[in-house]
Amino acid sequence: MTAFQPLVFSGVQPTGNLHLGNYLGAIRKFVALQEKSDCIYCVVDLHSITAQLVHGDLADQTRSITAAFLASGIDPKKHIVFNQSRVMQHAELAWVFNCVARIGWMNRMTQFKDKAGKDRENASLGLLAYPSLMAADMMVYRATHVPVGDDQKQHVELTRDIAQKFNNDFSGRIAELGVGVEMQVGEETVNGFFPLIEPVIGGPAARIMSLRDGSKKMSKSDPSDLSRINLTDDADTISKKIRKAKTDPDALPSEMDGLAGRPEAENLVGIYAGLTDMTKEAVLQQFGGQQFSTFKPALADLAVEKLAPIAGEMRRISADRTYVDSVLRDGGERAGARAEATMKSVREIMGFLQH
Ligand code: AMP
Ligand code: TRP
Repeated sequence: MTAFQPLVFSGVQPTGNLHLGNYLGAIRKFVALQEKSDCIYCVVDLHSITAQLVHGDLADQTRSITAAFLASGIDPKKHIVFNQSRVMQHAELAWVFNCVARIGWMNRMTQFKDKAGKDRENASLGLLAYPSLMAADMMVYRATHVPVGDDQKQHVELTRDIAQKFNNDFSGRIAELGVGVEMQVGEETVNGFFPLIEPVIGGPAARIMSLRDGSKKMSKSDPSDLSRINLTDDADTISKKIRKAKTDPDALPSEMDGLAGRPEAENLVGIYAGLTDMTKEAVLQQFGGQQFSTFKPALADLAVEKLAPIAGEMRRISADRTYVDSVLRDGGERAGARAEATMKSVREIMGFLQH
């Protein structure tokens, strides 16, 4: 191989309801990327046990994220949609990566610090190693691009560090076996087994904030349901939440400078931009000088127009459990074949005796 084949991979955890942040920050990009690239989208059920071991409804949560992928327009025939636990090679590569990565790297992850809280000693070992499994998710397919929200940037950088250390540590074996691919690292051309994956972040909606507090990100775990728009909310609920969203008393500015120090206003402008694929600048050109009493109803109409059909599709697809399960089964088989091809080489590189 002379270059890595472009391949998109991303994952979403099956915990809680999907919200507008997940949709604009991640899923909308998943949908757009399938036009040009080969894509693999995964419901990461192994990750969901890192913070909470026992789930009453893991299978249903997995189906519900799958239904959201399909309802948003992901094509499971052209691309691959599956749940992580079906393809054991993810866990196998994660173990190798646990031995490549250093404890210090994991300790520095802000998501670990946030999720572990004050009592770090009592967090699961899986929560600490979470980024190593995430790196394995992508690298087991030698993926080259990963669409994610801003909060995952640090994990993607860590994935590159793990790939680079693996490529360096095993450079001799990789060359000997002829399984490497030429790639550019800074000024140098090197022969590596794992690509240095590129995050696909950016855009006006990389970080959607809570509707109640512009300093906190919109999240599944916020106790207030008014803080987020769920993908399953009906039209009335969407409108009500936007009407009640926190704002300030000033009119919208015409320029980006005017949003400085106004996180709630900036967030609503970002949501409008994300839903229409406009820039925030263009939204301000359209609404500059207008009050929230005008902007909020326009935003509510737009959000209902874009999101209500997805909620409807999700309900329709979710009702057909046999179909959803068959998508995951078929996706798992296709993903498994690809993952196994990578792992055959990894086992050889590592020198495990296999015959
Ligand atoms: P999670 O729900 O944490 O599994 O996240 C799934 C995807 O949604 C990841 O790519 C996140 O980066 C993205 N995401 C989660 N919350 C937000 C948010 N508030 N704004 C933008 N993207 C988000
Ligand atoms: N950590 C991601 C999140 O919380 C989920 C995830 C797991 C993921 N594995 C991945 C995202 C691989 C992208 C690629 O959102």
